[in-house]
Amino acid sequence: MKILVLNGSPRPNGNTAALVSAFVEGAKENGHEVTVVPICRKKIAGCLACEYCHTKGEGKCIQQDDMREVYPVLSEAEMIVLASLVYYHSFSGQLQCAINRIYALDKPAKLKKAALILSSGSDNVYDGAIYEYRNSFLDYLKLEDMGIFTAYDKQNKSEEKLAELKAFGKTLV
Ligand SMILES: Cc1cc2nc3c(=O)[nH]c(=O)nc-3n(C[C@H](O)[C@H](O)[C@H](O)COP(=O)(O)O)c2cc1C
Repeated sequence: MKILVLNGSPRPNGNTAALVSAFVEGAKENGHEVTVVPICRKKIAGCLACEYCHTKGEGKCIQQDDMREVYPVLSEAEMIVLASLVYYHSFSGQLQCAINRIYALDKPAKLKKAALILSSGSDNVYDGAIYEYRNSFLDYLKLEDMGIFTAYDKQNKSEEKLAELKAFGKTLV
């Protein structure tokens, strides 16, 4: 299966990146083709709500930024994994911009499954991100939930968490 991971953490060696790496390791061992986009190292602006994509643009966004690299991968992906640190009880702003820009494609053609990976300082801070994931990705885009994974405080980068994420990738069908 072709899997697109959007890593919305700005820290390349941070907690989110560690969780993502463990998942990717397992998923690759399982034969999946995984593309990780480090969103914060890209220039991706917010949606302009100009509707160019739904009129003259015929599915293409008018903005000439790094989202142009993401659209083709998103169009081929069968599964999307949203990975983020928790920022003020939700996704990072950079990831939110990329999520909003999915609008140009309406529903990405081959997308069937989704998962969510969240890293935070405290426990019980996930409701904002989970609300968006459930309503926008599972309900609106009609994707099947393959799992929600969270890690806070010392759980981040712990052997147990990394093993959990690796096992998730390894058993994913
Ligand atoms: C600007 C900012 C806002 C944050 N907001 C929250 C928050 O609302 N709740 C929380 O538990 N942790 C919060 N954190 C902590 C991070 O989510 C946490 O340290 C996370 O593990 C960092 O992941 P990373 O290593 O991938 O950057 C915040 C961190 C920053 C820098």
